[in-house]
Amino acid sequence: MFPSPPTKYLPRKMRYPAVLVLMLGWASVVMWTTSRYRLQLVRENDLVFGKTSDIPIHVDKGININKDSNIGKVIPGTNIVGKSRDKKTYEHGHPGTKTNTVKKSFSSVIKDFGISLFKDINPDRFHINVTRTHETSVSRKAPDTRPSQCAGVKYDIELLPAASIVIPLHNEPWSTLERLINGVLNHSPKLLIHEILIIDDMSDLDYLGAPLDKYVEQFDFMRIFRSKERLGTMKSRMVGTKLAKGDIVVFLDSHTEVNVGWLEPLLYEISRNGTAIVQPSIDIVDPQTFQYRYYFQNNIRGHFKWSMAYEFVPIPPNQKAEVKAHPTKAFDTPAIVGCAFAVNRKYFLDIGGLDTGMRTWGGEDVELSIRVWLCGGSMKISPCSHVAHIFKKGHPFKMDYSDLVYNNRRTAEMWLGDYRKYFYYFNYRYAKPPESSDKFNIMDPVKEKFKCKSFDWLLKNVYPELEIPPEGTVYFGHMRNVGSQYCFGPAESVFVTSYPLLVMADCFFYYKAKSFALLEAGLLVVSGKCINVEKDFLVVTPCTAESNRWKLKGKLLVYTDDLGSKCATQVSKANNSENIQTIKLMPCDNATKASEWQFADKIFRSH
Ligand SMILES: *[C@@H]1O[C@H](CO)[C@@H](O)[C@H](O)[C@H]1NC(C)=O
Ligand SMILES: *[C@@H]1O[C@H](CO)[C@@H](O)[C@H](O)[C@H]1NC(C)=O
Ligand SMILES: *[C@@H]1O[C@H](CO)[C@@H](O)[C@H](O)[C@H]1NC(C)=O
Ligand SMILES: *[C@@H]1O[C@H](CO)[C@@H](O)[C@H](O)[C@H]1NC(C)=O
Repeated sequence: MFPSPPTKYLPRKMRYPAVLVLMLGWASVVMWTTSRYRLQLVRENDLVFGKTSDIPIHVDKGININKDSNIGKVIPGTNIVGKSRDKKTYEHGHPGTKTNTVKKSFSSVIKDFGISLFKDINPDRFHINVTRTHETSVSRKAPDTRPSQCAGVKYDIELLPAASIVIPLHNEPWSTLERLINGVLNHSPKLLIHEILIIDDMSDLDYLGAPLDKYVEQFDFMRIFRSKERLGTMKSRMVGTKLAKGDIVVFLDSHTEVNVGWLEPLLYEISRNGTAIVQPSIDIVDPQTFQYRYYFQNNIRGHFKWSMAYEFVPIPPNQKAEVKAHPTKAFDTPAIVGCAFAVNRKYFLDIGGLDTGMRTWGGEDVELSIRVWLCGGSMKISPCSHVAHIFKKGHPFKMDYSDLVYNNRRTAEMWLGDYRKYFYYFNYRYAKPPESSDKFNIMDPVKEKFKCKSFDWLLKNVYPELEIPPEGTVYFGHMRNVGSQYCFGPAESVFVTSYPLLVMADCFFYYKAKSFALLEAGLLVVSGKCINVEKDFLVVTPCTAESNRWKLKGKLLVYTDDLGSKCATQVSKANNSENIQTIKLMPCDNATKASEWQFADKIFRSH
């Protein structure tokens, strides 16, 4: 089902010249890969990429790691022998340890080759402050970002399966790569690392050639595979999977950094159920300062909307309660992110691995997530495993969106069934319906073997939060006020004549900031109900024959009845002792920014 690895290990002598081949295309690929998780996504036509600009990054804020009575508590089902991790467990003979022979650090090997450490530091090329990462310790101890209860969970290391760590590599600055490798060595019990496999996808940086070979040779459990042709992220990971011998494969982007105790929870979850694919909680390394920051605090998961693009989102309230009750237990996520995840190797190959029919990068994580859910497995986030990702800034490369749209279209064609029309509605500017030459049958054997369910099942059982646009929708998505940039949703506790008022909600909290559908027939619909007017305020009511009074004129949301036309405007309203932001009809000739609206995320045409 998968192309075999396109190259064998290159003869050692050939590796150095081979990596000098310039592959400019790849540079943009790497940027894209990371820019998917980029926090400032500035594009006019943000129809294809997930809208990630709303992600609140709490820098040293929202850190609430309390001392908890659960400390020392053990995960039920683990075989505890009560042994504390003795230092020896972690001794891989990596630089700085006294056992075995002292290994040379990557930077000193690079210097031995007469290559300046600060040779390739153009921040525009790498989208990070390269000087800064080179000056930051490659053996630093990141803050322990896990929930407090995690430190007390003990795993019986001898009963856990061992992992092959697969690191796809393309032109990563030496220090971010070395920081990752050192972190893996320092934070993983030796017994649990079967091997570290670096899959070099045609890097051309000097120091990633012969010096990296020399560095890697010092470790008997580390190997480097040099591809002779451009693989892209999906194929690189699949080449790694096929070379791997460990029971578990753990994929890590070359610009990630692992935290204390990161590996055991991932292996533990998979040892309990081999059909679970488990992602660590994601932290953030700032691309400019290289500070390590908190991000996932048992409050974030991943999902996708009809564009099939991955997004980080807060976990919904019902799941929040569950996670709060079991703060160390891996929890379900509609989708995992591709930068770091662990999977049982045999299961991964059985279930079809990654879709290698996808082009170069992007979209494979959502496809894998939908497939595994529909075919009987599960996707999970481990609270006790923390891995940071460098969220690179900026984007000077011209982006060819068609590749990502193509990949996302594959996902839609393969898995959405009748729901695939929504993919095309949301991507109407970019994705044309497939041509007869397009083949989306790569996963057909998997579908048959695993008797995979239809997308309906996913909507009912895994991801009921995905909102389906009603028939006749012209605009769909968050209703974002241009003045305040906030979104709106039905109030839980504020009513006008017993109808819930529309109140301001943080756009990131998708389960409060609902998707609104403006229908061609003039109805403004939210969660199957209609927006009507009560004492000039916008409220949520059952739909009636009179609900069809809305029209979007430019950015003004206009309501017309026998008395004339008025414009929906954000206003303050007293609610007990506080003011809340809500929406009221005002004369259109008095319109301000507060009367302007964007159907924020997506423009949708179902006709
Ligand atoms: C990058 O980091 C270096 C070293 O810390 C610093 O001197 C420089 O100002 C930084 N550049 C930017 C653009 O922040
Ligand atoms: C493993 O997880 C799948 C998906 O959640 C579930 O259907 C199956 O019963 C689990 N298997 C075991 C052995 O727990
Ligand atoms: C309005 O006030 C009530 C009572 O103080 C409070 O429970 C509710 O959360 C408030 N609503 C909003 C939207 O702030
Ligand atoms: C029109 O706008 C002005 C200035 O913003 C405001 O003072 C006035 O109350 C508005 N009129 C109405 C009818 O809302």
